[in-house]
Amino acid sequence: MKVAVIGTGRVGLPLALSLIDCGVDVLGVDLNENVRHAINVERRMPFEEPGYDELAASGKLTITGDIRDAADCDYFIVTVGTPVLAHIETDLSYVTKVISSLCEFLSPGQTVIMRSTTAPRTTAYVAAQIEANTGLKVGQEVMLACCPERIVEGKAREELARLPQVIGAQDARSAQSAERLFRKLGVETLHCTPGTAELVKLFCNVSRYAYFGVINALSMIALDLGVEPHEVIELANHEYPRKVHGRPGFTAGTCLRKDFGMLAESYWSGNFLTEMWRVNESLPKFLVDFARKRYGSLKGRRVAVLGYTFKGDADDTRDSLAPKLLRYLQRETPARIVVSDPYIKADAVEPLPTLEFTPEFETALCDVDLVFIATNHSCYREQSQKIVDAARLYGVKVVDIWNICGQGRVAFDEESIRSQTTVGMQLSAA
Ligand SMILES: NC(=O)c1ccc[n+]([C@@H]2O[C@H](COP(=O)([O-])OP(=O)(O)OC[C@H]3O[C@@H](n4cnc5c(N)ncnc54)[C@H](O)[C@@H]3O)[C@@H](O)[C@H]2O)c1
Repeated sequence: MKVAVIGTGRVGLPLALSLIDCGVDVLGVDLNENVRHAINVERRMPFEEPGYDELAASGKLTITGDIRDAADCDYFIVTVGTPVLAHIETDLSYVTKVISSLCEFLSPGQTVIMRSTTAPRTTAYVAAQIEANTGLKVGQEVMLACCPERIVEGKAREELARLPQVIGAQDARSAQSAERLFRKLGVETLHCTPGTAELVKLFCNVSRYAYFGVINALSMIALDLGVEPHEVIELANHEYPRKVHGRPGFTAGTCLRKDFGMLAESYWSGNFLTEMWRVNESLPKFLVDFARKRYGSLKGRRVAVLGYTFKGDADDTRDSLAPKLLRYLQRETPARIVVSDPYIKADAVEPLPTLEFTPEFETALCDVDLVFIATNHSCYREQSQKIVDAARLYGVKVVDIWNICGQGRVAFDEESIRSQTTVGMQLSAA
């Protein structure tokens, strides 16, 4: 069995390496020269994904820039990006480009696996493209299945070996061919139509995005009313079986931020989903306004932002809400903004006037008036006492939507620490 993985990014590269680990002969295909250089020459992962360093160093994977090198493969797994354009329209250009290149040499017996996250009816569109451009009949001469990726970044190694694989195929031959491939990973397979598979994937992300939207809405309403959201959640969930799910925080990233758009472009329920988008997207501005109302104008003050990536303990900055927070802070004309994130280098940060970068968060805490915690990295949680001490000893004000510092407050300062007003469970114990 010879497999081509087309698009060796955050999804394709871990999959390619996991398949190699299961004894499959894999060729990667990617247009990005940096990705090819990292794997082919430097033999290292081009991004952080635990558990793959050894496989990357083994030299067993080669990535070509020319898809025609993969012409003799049995399987073509498509893992290119599927963004949603700013005006809520699925951008199918990457998929279309790959499929039209494949159509130049696709031959009987080969199988195309759609693994990118796609809008409803995309697999049907791909089938139509293949039949129109090759004259081959899908399900008879060539096979096609929608087998979405459901891993979360940072856990690919473990989840690729564990998560059940949904296989959406319109015909038995395609289903059997996809089954043969994913059996190599040793995971349970679940068979359905392509339309079902597309919705399974989309709603895995959409439901997650929506419940964060609900909890972020709760937080903004609570703060507007002078109520602590973490206290509301804690009391609501105490010994109560039907929980309020999730915790407030910046909810974005390349998947959650876009996948709802694949439904919102076509369905009335998109109104509700678009509303969740609005809620999650408004949190950075809300927090800047909230800080100004609580602590006065930020003009001329020194601000630090801890965290720049879109999620904790990751090096992925795509679609992060931290740059948005920084842009809103910039509008307040502070004297200086220092951004800090141990997972990235300075060149990953969008350049803004008066913006400085430091990887060390202790340096960011020096000489500042106000600190925003933008990303829930565990190193901040582990060293949160240093942040609390900066507030207690040096009068720094802290905006901590994640409750990383365990103060139970979205904003805390010297006074709130000193007054030690009870929050959360201490109330119910009284
Ligand atoms: N990142 C995640 O955690 C995750 C999880 C599940 C599903 N997905 C979905 O998987 C898909 C890929 O996401 P990603 O995060 O890996 O994207 P990515 O941008 O990291 O990777 C895509 C790769 O495809 C390459 N590429 C683009 N056009 C190409 C072409 N014509 N030929 C060859 N290579 C090409 C790019 O250079 C890039 O390296 C998306 O649909 C995404 O929604 C992502």
